[in-house]
This record gives sequence, C-alpha cells and structure tokens, in this order.
Amino acid sequence: MEKLKIVGGRPLRGTIKVDGAKNSAVALVPATILAESPVTIEGMPDISDIHILKGLLEEIGGRVTFRDGEMVVDPTSMVAMPLPNGKVKKLRASYYLMGAMLGKFKKAVIGLPGGCHLGPRPIDQHIKGFEALGAEVTNEQGAIYLRANELRGARIYLDVVSVGATINIMLAAVKAKGQTVIENAAKEPEIIDVATLLNNMGAKIKGAGTDIIRIEGVDKLDGCRHTIIPDRIEAGTFMILAAAAGDGIVIDNVIPLHLESLTAKLREMNVPVEIGDDKIFVGKAEKLKAVDVKTLVYPGFPTDLQQPFTSLLTKAEGSSIVTDTIYSARFKHIDELRRMNAIMKVEGRSAVINGPVRLQGAKVKASDLRAGAALVIAGLMAEGLTEVTGLEHIDRGYSMLVEKLRLLGADLWREGLSEEDIGQIKSG
Ligand code: EPU
Repeated sequence: MEKLKIVGGRPLRGTIKVDGAKNSAVALVPATILAESPVTIEGMPDISDIHILKGLLEEIGGRVTFRDGEMVVDPTSMVAMPLPNGKVKKLRASYYLMGAMLGKFKKAVIGLPGGCHLGPRPIDQHIKGFEALGAEVTNEQGAIYLRANELRGARIYLDVVSVGATINIMLAAVKAKGQTVIENAAKEPEIIDVATLLNNMGAKIKGAGTDIIRIEGVDKLDGCRHTIIPDRIEAGTFMILAAAAGDGIVIDNVIPLHLESLTAKLREMNVPVEIGDDKIFVGKAEKLKAVDVKTLVYPGFPTDLQQPFTSLLTKAEGSSIVTDTIYSARFKHIDELRRMNAIMKVEGRSAVINGPVRLQGAKVKASDLRAGAALVIAGLMAEGLTEVTGLEHIDRGYSMLVEKLRLLGADLWREGLSEEDIGQIKSG
C-alpha cells in the first residue's frame, strides 16, 4: 500500500502554482462529445479523474491526446456506446456523460456514478431536467438508460441548487429544439467555464453564473480552443496550508474573486492575506482566532474547503464550529485528526474544534479527496512523522502535490506501491 510520509514543522515559503479547475475539467471533457470537430482544452490538470474520463471518451470511439496540460479530443468517430459498468463507477463526474451523450446521440446508457462518500448524493434533479427536455429515463440494474426521439427546450426549476444538475441540463439542452430556461441554477464559476466552452463551440447560452440560465438550441456545435479557469479549491487548499504552516507563501494562477469567502474568513482569524491580479500572498499567521464557518453554495464558503479548514482551526485560540449545509457526512477526517491530538467532535452536521493544540504526527487514512488535503495540511503542521494512506483519493484532485509542496521546503515523500502499480502487476 502506498503511503505519503510527512515530517512536519518545516517552515514553508515561496510560490506555489495552481492548475486548471478539476470540477470544470470533469465537465469540459464530456462536453467535447457534443462537437462535430476536434476541441482543444488548455490547462488540463494531470489528475486521475481526467485520465479516467479520457479512457471513457476513447471507449466510445473518441481520439484523445493529453500532453503538457493540453487535451485534444477528436469526437468525429464517437458512437453511443453503452457504458453501464467499469470506469464510470470510479468517479462522480461520469454523470456528465449522460447529458452530453443524450444531447449528441439522443440516447445513452451510463452506470450510476461513484465518487467521494459524503452522505447521500442523489441525481434526481439531473433526471428531472432530462425528462423535461423529452427524454425517457429509467434505472435498470444500476445504470441509467436515457432515450429521446427529439429533445425540446423546456422551463426547468431546480428544487435543489445543484452544480451537477445545472451543467448536465446545459449539456443536454444546447442542441435541443427551442429555448430552455434553468431556474434556481447553481452559480459556481465552473458553470460559467462550461458555458464559455459550449458558446465557443457555437451554443447560445446566456446567464451562466446567475440563477437563471437561458439556452437557445442550435443544430450543430464545432470544435474550438478553450483555457480552463484556475482551480479555486486547489488555490483555497494552498491558502489554508499557507496559514497553517507557512512563512509567507504566494499562490499563483488564481482568480481572487473566486476565493472571497475564504479570504474573508482567514482575515477574520488574523491571517495576513494580500490580493494581487492573479496571485494571493498569505503571510505568516500568529495568534489565530477561532471562527465559525458554514458551507453554502457559491459565493458562500465552499464545502470542498471545509475539511482542510478544520485542520487550520486546531491552531486557533478558542472554540470554532464548522457546519456543512451541503453534505451531511463530510466529517470522516475528524476522527483521523483526533489521532493527531486534535480536540474536536462531530455534532450532527457540525464539527466543534477547540484550540490551540500542537498536532502530533500519526498514521492516518484519507477517506475522500478533501479529507486527504486536510490530513496533508495537518501533517505539515504536526510535530514528527505523519503517514497518510488512501492516496488514490488525493490523486483524483491534486496534481503533483508532493512536488509542489517540496518546492516550498516541505519534507514529504511517497513510499510503497500505488493501487495502479498493484493492478498492473496483477494483470501481468
Ligand atoms: N442534490 C440533490 N439532487 C440532485 C443533485 C444534488 O439532492 O439531483 C444535492 C446533493 O446531495 C448535495 C447538494 O444537492 O447535498 C449539492 O450537490 P451538487 O449537485 O451541487 O454537487 P455535485 O455536482 O455532485 C459538485 C462537485 C463537488 C462539490 C459540489 C458542491 C463535481 C464533480 N463535484 O458536486 O466537488 O462538493 O459540487 O459544490 O463537480 C470535490 O471536489 O471534492 C467535490 C466533492
């Protein structure tokens, strides 16, 4: 089993660069299915979710190259191949194949998605949208079957503000006949990024980034070139890490507007934060104050930063309460942090953290992607050696994390065989 070993307490300083946004990229890659000619996407993060999606596009006949952060997808030979099992189960974002394949071929068979276990993660709003556009949707033995003779624009009100449903309905509606209106749409920057790609391909989408999105269906979408927005969650993870263990760190390639809720919370804690055009400087933080945090949809505090933030709060003086209103069970990291000496407990949808404490190195396991980030931050803060397992989760969303942290002066390395290595050995 592969482990990440971290010797904590090293002063971290310098510049760390952010990659393209994972949660955009995982939608942009399926969106290329809708084009009639090759699409080039720049700034693609080198993470396992993207490699899995690349494999899925190849399974349906796409020709894909991915080198130095640039992915080129030639969709001209793609077919509506059913994907009920296999790789689709490995990631959450495989649900975007439903919208994209329905939009292009008027039919799709996609296994129910996997991804991090954060409590119930239904896709009822996605399905409600597809049905409103005229698709017949059935769930047969763990796979979703979608069929439509014709897709017609519709007015769709989302009962729950959902990033995935908003994007998936956009994908299915761009080539539908007539106008689609998505009401109570999610407003995350990743939605604007996907709409920008689709509009560059020839779609007519207005209002992305607001809670009403209007889509005028078009007959044909062409290839184009697109650059992904920077990953606000990776950037936020680095800002938290800088506040927790840094001695002056510049986070490079960011859109500061996307990080306002985190910046405000860090300042409230006494962390020095300076904002540039596409950089954020986080200074050495002394005497941190406890704060309460509630996760909300954008532009509120992101649920994806809640777990890393709890690690930082162990250093703050007083009692902090972190409440996750988006996911009911995103607290599996709390028990692991307690192994490291943290004083925290979970009460319903909240975690209560008492500080300050000096974390101690321990053997801990990442249960999901952002839990992994929380444990890496804790390891960098702690006294002594921390061993993190469950690295396959971290690899889903953070590209070259060890290398990036080493450039800041962190003492950490990977040891042992990865799941991928073991799989390759087993398959001869
Ligand atoms: N929900 C429903 N019905 C639906 C869809 C969602 O009830 O049909 C609920 C969910 O259970 C959840 C809430 O609505 O309570 C929000 O879910 P949303 O659909 O917005 O989340 P998602 O699209 O599945 C994306 C990110 C997550 C991120 C959330 C919230 C991707 C692939 N994933 O998930 O990212 O936490 O939005 O911002 O884009 C991560 O990066 O670690 C991660 C989990």
